[in-house]
Order: sequence, then C-alpha cells, then structure tokens
Amino acid sequence: MGRRRGFGSRLLAGLALASMSICLVLLHQLSQDGRGAIGGATNEAVERRQRHSHRYLLMAAAGSGSLPAAAIESKRPSAAKETARNEVDDGNQSTSAAVDRRLPRLLIIGVRKGGTRALLEMLNLHRDIAMVPVEVHFFDKFDNYQRGLDWYRSQMPLSSDAQLTVEKSPSYYVTPEVPERVYAMNPHVQLVLIVRDPVTRLLSDFAQIEASRAAQNLPNRRFQDVALLPNGEVNTQNRALHVSLYAKFLSRWLHVFPRRQLHIVDGDRLIRDPWPELQKVERFLGLEHLIRRDQFYFNATKGFFCLTGTPADVGNDNLTAADEHHNHYHHKCLAGSKGRRHPQVPDEVISVLRQFFAPHNRKFFAMVGQDFDWPEQ
Ligand code: A3P
Repeated sequence: MGRRRGFGSRLLAGLALASMSICLVLLHQLSQDGRGAIGGATNEAVERRQRHSHRYLLMAAAGSGSLPAAAIESKRPSAAKETARNEVDDGNQSTSAAVDRRLPRLLIIGVRKGGTRALLEMLNLHRDIAMVPVEVHFFDKFDNYQRGLDWYRSQMPLSSDAQLTVEKSPSYYVTPEVPERVYAMNPHVQLVLIVRDPVTRLLSDFAQIEASRAAQNLPNRRFQDVALLPNGEVNTQNRALHVSLYAKFLSRWLHVFPRRQLHIVDGDRLIRDPWPELQKVERFLGLEHLIRRDQFYFNATKGFFCLTGTPADVGNDNLTAADEHHNHYHHKCLAGSKGRRHPQVPDEVISVLRQFFAPHNRKFFAMVGQDFDWPEQ
C-alpha cells in the first residue's frame, strides 16, 4: 500500500512537472509569435536578407566569391588579426572594426536592361568589391527611404575596410528624387551608369514586360502596337520608351553630381567583350587591375560571356579533384531572365524609332563627352 502510495505521488509529481514544461513551452512560443507580429512579414524579410548577407560575407571576404577566405586573410594580415582580437574580446559581437556593414561607395544607378546585373557580377570578381546581391531600392522607394540609413546599412554585405560596397538598383536613374537623396548620403559617392543602344534597350524592356504579362496570363502584344501609334508615329506616352531617353534623366544627376563622379559603361561592348569595359571601371574606381581577360569565356549556348575560375585557381595545373569541384562552382552564367529572345520587328519600325531617338542620343553624347555611335536610321 505504502509502495503504491509512493508510486502514485511520484506519478502525480511527474504529471505536474510535465504540464509545467508544456506551459513554459507554450509561453515561449507565444512570446516568439508576439515578437514576430510587431514587425510582421517585413521583419521576416529583413531577417531573411540578413541571413543572405551573412552567407554573402563568406563570398565577400573571399574576394567576392573569387578568392578563398584564407587567401584574402593572408593578403591583409592586420585586418585578419584585428578581427581575431575583437572576436576574443567580445564573443557576442557579430562584426568588428575590420569586417562590418558599410554604406555603398559605388552605386550602379541604371539603366534598366542596360546590363546592370552582368556588370555587377563581373565587377564582383574583384577582390576589393563587395556587392549587394539584391536590388535594395532604398533611394527610389519611399517606404524604404523612410526606414533611414541604418536600415540601408543593415542590407549591406559584410565587408573589409579595403573593400568597396556596391549596390545596384536600375530605377535609381529615372526616379526624380534619387540624385538628391544619394547626395545626402554621401556627396563623394561614385556612380556608374550602363547604357545600350536605346532601341535595343527598348526591345529588351518590352521582352521583359511581355514575359511578366505572360506569367499573369495576360495576352501577348506586338511590339509595334505598343511603341507606335496607329498613325505610325512614336508613342511618346510609352513608359518603357521614356527610359531610353537617357539625356532627360542625366541632366538631373549632373545637376547634383560633378561629371567626374559618374562613369558610363557601354553596355553593347560589355556584351561583345566585357574585359576592356571592366578595366575602365577599375581605373575609374582607382582599383588595382585584378580582373583578368581569362575570367570570361564565351558560352555559345547562352550567346553571352560567362564568368569563370578564381584568381588563385585559374592557370594552376596542380588542382585536386576537390579544387576542380570548387572551381566549377565559380563558373557562372547569368540567369535565363537575361538574354531573352527579342521580338521580331519590321525594319521600318526600327527605323522610325532610331530616327526618333537620334537627337536625344546626340544630346546625351554631348553631355557625357562620349559618342556611342548608335545607328540613326
Ligand atoms: P537582354 O535580355 O535583352 O539580352 P539588366 O541586367 O540591366 O536587366 O540587363 C539585362 C541585359 O544584360 C540582357 O538583355 C543582356 O543582353 C545583357 N548582358 C550583358 N552581358 C551579359 C552576360 N554576360 N550574360 C547575360 N546577359 C548579359
């Protein structure tokens, strides 16, 4: 009997303990949910980005995906030491004097469909570049801009002191408020604009718009029905067409920034032969010429140049199977959303558009002091 009472009270005590644990777990869960509810989906998105950025640190610290982390540390022993010391001093610190999130010192401001992604990925081959992998749209989206510079900084990848953080959001170029806002962040920021023959850019833009319409089950349209009016004249109300009026937007930027802070990349040349264009960007940024011609190879299936190898691996004949695998990982072509098939358009339509853009183009060439030789007929 005594033994049975003992067993019973042990059972009761056990049950009480179990229900207390369940309560504690429920309470914890509630507090987690409550926390989530404050920021809702936005917090979640920010955290996802943070995690993404964190993962990106590995690539940024490894020369933006091009150098093993060990290699970069050996290049910057003082920075590596500093990091190690801070990590010992304060185990809770996620960043240090050497590795931190820094506001961009270079912005690729546009132009949409000019080759902005290719340019960013190619620049990212450079050891001293830390790219923001996503388009942050801080300066052009009011909701983002309202979140302030600390939020913007939190979207940046971790980078070393020696690295230059680069963000690209192509709509910066055409959004009226952006130049002033960028200036308020840093009047010395460097700007890169990549442009293409405006008619080709328009065809590319149209292909993208139609692809997203198709995804929404909206009917296909003919390019000429959108770009031209029924009487055959250019439809100047078309938004995509406006983006190709480069001079119109440039004047806003040059009103705020001196010309020397803006470098213009020839997007058509970047497609045909990327390396010389990248050398020019390196020179503009005052970076060592580290991007090499053999880091690009033409992929006949894609019809574009793709990126390959790491500075350490390329040309190394003593690679192990693991190295080969690692190296293979660094072969990178742009996603299928780049290099879409452009619509087939009658020559007369192209000719009408070229004539329309010609005076705007000449104005643009005069403003930038560079002739891109885009066809006028
Ligand atoms: P198309 O899809 O019309 O060919 P953005 O990144 O600004 O949206 O620009 C997209 C354009 O980048 C593509 O337009 C493509 O032509 C161009 N581009 C330049 N270099 C490229 C490369 N190496 N791989 C894929 N696309 C490239």
